[in-house]
Amino acid sequence: MDDDQLIAAAIAARENAYAPYSGFSVGAAVLDETGQIHIGQNVENAAYPNGICAETAAIALMVQKGGKQIVKLAVSGGNGDLLCTPCGGCRQRIREFAADATPVLICDANGLTARFTLGELLPHSFGPDHLS
Ligand code: THU
Repeated sequence: MDDDQLIAAAIAARENAYAPYSGFSVGAAVLDETGQIHIGQNVENAAYPNGICAETAAIALMVQKGGKQIVKLAVSGGNGDLLCTPCGGCRQRIREFAADATPVLICDANGLTARFTLGELLPHSFGPDHLS
């Protein structure tokens, strides 16, 4: 799976964002260990804290479809002036199914703007291993 396909999926997912309050549309695409791509978009709510992020939506779909590992993830948000990196809560949700080396591709509406590993975004993280 090349990066371009995952990036295109995240950008396309963004089109279906429900973001009437912030006006900030985000799309995410997760590649799982079977080669499937799972997409998600932010879904805001009039009761603001109940909104969910694009990454959270994509991870929920991955789990529903039987995916167990995030091999790579792309996020598309904003217009390139500031990087749309996953929020703190989503970094931890990604961590549940990913490793320090897992690539996180940051995109705007047009394409890739930055590339990190999960370990760079969430160093010294707490994860499932701590409870096994
Ligand atoms: N948001 C995401 O969906 N993912 C991110 O990585 C950052 C922020 C959403 C949450 C909210 O709907 C909007 O962007 C503004 O914070």
